[in-house]
Amino acid sequence: MIKNVGIIGSGTMGAGIAQVAAKAGCFVKLYDTKTEALENAKTDLEKIMDRLVEKGKIDSEEKERVQNNIKYVNSLKELKDSDLTIEAIVENLDIKKNVFSTLEKFVSDDCIIASNTSSLSIASIASSLQKPERCIGIHFFNPAPLMKLVEVIPAIQTSEETLNTSVKTIKDWGKTVAVAKDTPGFIVNRVARPFYGEALRIYEEGMASFSEIDSAMKEIGGFRMGPFELMDFIGNDVNYTVTETVFEAFYFDPRYKPSFTQKRFAEAGYLGRKSGKGYYDYSENGELSVRAQSRTSSKENVAAENIFERILVTLINEAADALFWNIASAEDIDNAMTKGVNYPKGLLTWADEKRINWCVSKMDELYDEYHEDRYRCSPLLRKMNRENKTFF
Ligand code: NAI
Repeated sequence: MIKNVGIIGSGTMGAGIAQVAAKAGCFVKLYDTKTEALENAKTDLEKIMDRLVEKGKIDSEEKERVQNNIKYVNSLKELKDSDLTIEAIVENLDIKKNVFSTLEKFVSDDCIIASNTSSLSIASIASSLQKPERCIGIHFFNPAPLMKLVEVIPAIQTSEETLNTSVKTIKDWGKTVAVAKDTPGFIVNRVARPFYGEALRIYEEGMASFSEIDSAMKEIGGFRMGPFELMDFIGNDVNYTVTETVFEAFYFDPRYKPSFTQKRFAEAGYLGRKSGKGYYDYSENGELSVRAQSRTSSKENVAAENIFERILVTLINEAADALFWNIASAEDIDNAMTKGVNYPKGLLTWADEKRINWCVSKMDELYDEYHEDRYRCSPLLRKMNRENKTFF
């Protein structure tokens, strides 16, 4: 039973995870090297709690309880009585390893030591420990209190017990768990790549504008945000770096090739909302100033349908391939995309609806057109098509 939780790093993610654990009734110690980061986390939490009380989502007793469950500490040693620690510091392997090996000296033998890393291998982080079997990836999404999904990633060193306790704890905290293999991007950051990459490519080929691609995905696909709106929201610097990291980690598989357009936007400082300009201009209140045009002509409708189908099928292909490589179960792959990045439907469910035959033909059409490995159809889709199978 996990009662005492230590969180390392009180930035965006650490503070959010602390809130989740405290709300679930755990006693949390939130640690950061910077006093300012701790103070900010504390005042931000107060503001969030006040807003929740104002909205009637929680009462003032609950607010007090959550706040009192979190202690802000400036020494790693204070985490010594933790049953579970989750690290959310800067994304740097050497720094993380250093913190992990120091932490291990203070905590008890059965304390689970987890990392919230998005892109580093859990095996490499675990290798810094005397007892690597206690190490695991517990990957929350931003904002942690709101996003339902948590990816749990056992490394090859991780014990069954560490995995089981971690999964149970995160479920007890009210989250949906998707267990993923320790491979680049885990589930979400791998499967989602074509949402950005294919959209950028369609733009680069001159097929459509940013807003036309965005409206195709929203109006036909039912996505809450189009790819360009979402990249502006995430930040073109951040999104480009994730793409580049995944591309390199997959030994330069052309399917994950980053885009020059996005690179130039990042270089120009057109980062998106946070810089006031990205693919769109943002007025002071952060609203889009370029609105998607409403479309009427049937020619345009065909174009929009093509754009949507091309992005959808490459997403489905990626999801199917993740299943082919045993990255996660079909259920977890679908949950990951609906609960981690709010897709309107799980991609494998979508594949069943569109029919596997459609997916294979669409991928083959793209491959015939471009002769690029980027458009190779997943062997799993081909096999399922031959055997007339569905995912669910
Ligand atoms: P952040 O920059 O907001 O916060 C990091 C905090 O760690 C800072 O307050 C910093 O003072 C502190 N810190 C740095 N080195 C430290 C050390 N040696 N000991 C203690 N504290 C230290 O970063 P953010 O965005 O919260 O990311 C943290 C981790 O979570 C990274 O590994 C990132 O890849 C991962 N992540 C980030 C997501 C996001 O959307 N921001 C989503 C999921 C995972």
